[in-house]
Amino acid sequence: MKTIIEPFRIKSVEPLRHTTREEREQLIKKAGYNLFLLEAKDVLIDLLTDSGTSAMSTEQWAAMMRGDESYAGSASFFRMQRVAQDLMGFRHVIPTHQGRAAERILFSVMCRPGQVVPNNTHFDTTRANIEFAGARAVDLPVAEAADTQARLPFKGNMDVAALEKLIETEGAHRIPLIMVTVTNNSGGGQPVSMRNLEAVRAVATRHRIPFYLDACRFAENAWLIREREAEYHNWAPREIARKMFSLADGCTFSAKKDAFANIGGMLCTNDDRLAAQETNLLILTEGFPTYGGLAGRDLEAIAVGLEEILDPDYLRYRIASTAYLGRHIADHGVPIVEPPGGHAIYIDAARMLPHIPRAQFPGQALAVELYRHAGIRSVEIGSVMFGAAARHELLRLAIPRRVYTQSHIDYVVEAILEVNANRQNIRGMRIVEEPPFLRHFSARFDWAG
Ligand code: F0G
Repeated sequence: MKTIIEPFRIKSVEPLRHTTREEREQLIKKAGYNLFLLEAKDVLIDLLTDSGTSAMSTEQWAAMMRGDESYAGSASFFRMQRVAQDLMGFRHVIPTHQGRAAERILFSVMCRPGQVVPNNTHFDTTRANIEFAGARAVDLPVAEAADTQARLPFKGNMDVAALEKLIETEGAHRIPLIMVTVTNNSGGGQPVSMRNLEAVRAVATRHRIPFYLDACRFAENAWLIREREAEYHNWAPREIARKMFSLADGCTFSAKKDAFANIGGMLCTNDDRLAAQETNLLILTEGFPTYGGLAGRDLEAIAVGLEEILDPDYLRYRIASTAYLGRHIADHGVPIVEPPGGHAIYIDAARMLPHIPRAQFPGQALAVELYRHAGIRSVEIGSVMFGAAARHELLRLAIPRRVYTQSHIDYVVEAILEVNANRQNIRGMRIVEEPPFLRHFSARFDWAG
């Protein structure tokens, strides 16, 4: 059979609420044309993020009832630790309330002012936490990533020659760690190849610099390696993931992505001395090391989710359904970041709306129009989010895991194609009010001109 189906059936449902175009025009105006400021009940299909928005399985809900809420020595922690260690192989597993808490602890312990942390592309919280520790966050994506239309298999890779050059100019002693983000979220959700991870590992070893993964979407990356890197066609996703982790000295992880959990994260390392420092900081702000800011039931959900995420049927469906959305809009003239990656489709809004200058935020204008037209919520990843540092003007359509069915996606496709047919009439936007940092969350907009 060629048809790929959702490899689950639905036991518990949440109703969706339709609104009229007139209602949506009022609602988005009241929200200052910022989709973060909408109430979720006024959104029909919510593609704002794939983070913490997964549908949990019956096994996860059942495990939650077993949650051991002991302050110290919770059985749920040891279960989660066993699953994580079996998969990732790291000596220390430190639970945190989400990914950015792991980042904050890692960088507070490892970074000093004036130091430099390279990554293929830092996520915004990663960059912010490095800068908060006084260090500098440097992105080293491969050159091919600059062309959104190039259909290459591993546009998430790190530029290894640029990494060597950075080490040469800065000196290895000023680089406390090298990070690689799988998949490369800020770089269009593109995967990183095993060959690239091995090359980064070799550079890190040569210069004695620790190498960490930002492992948020490790399972989607593992499946894309299986599909796109010849040697791995017959490997189980678990074995590919194990090999990816075996190349690193540690990782940060947001369980809100590839563990199907609604909250949670972890910081892992093989370094006993670092682990001791990290654990001390954890106790100060997150909690005792056997819960780290989470309830025992959350640890249970993560333990089960980490196993379920590597099911080949799930990953085959997951990657195929993301590509389904991508191909159905791109093959009808909507420019996306090619090729489709793991968790989201990114529309190249600057290319789709060439009549809107970058200073008038084409990604934001498109996000607003998609909501007004069809009640779909997406997120701008461009000049609103990154200011002058934005490399592209993108609109991200992130797909929550196991939440929407193919008919929901068909509705999204139809809406985007209708918006595209009417694109000449979409107007640019201007900011009328903005906070001093991370402005995308709360800025207010109006029409330009
Ligand atoms: N690293 C990457 C690559 C991420 O995508 C995220 C979160 C984090 C770290 C931080 O994890 O949210 O658990 O603190 N990304 C979400 C998104 C918010 O929408 O892409 P967190």
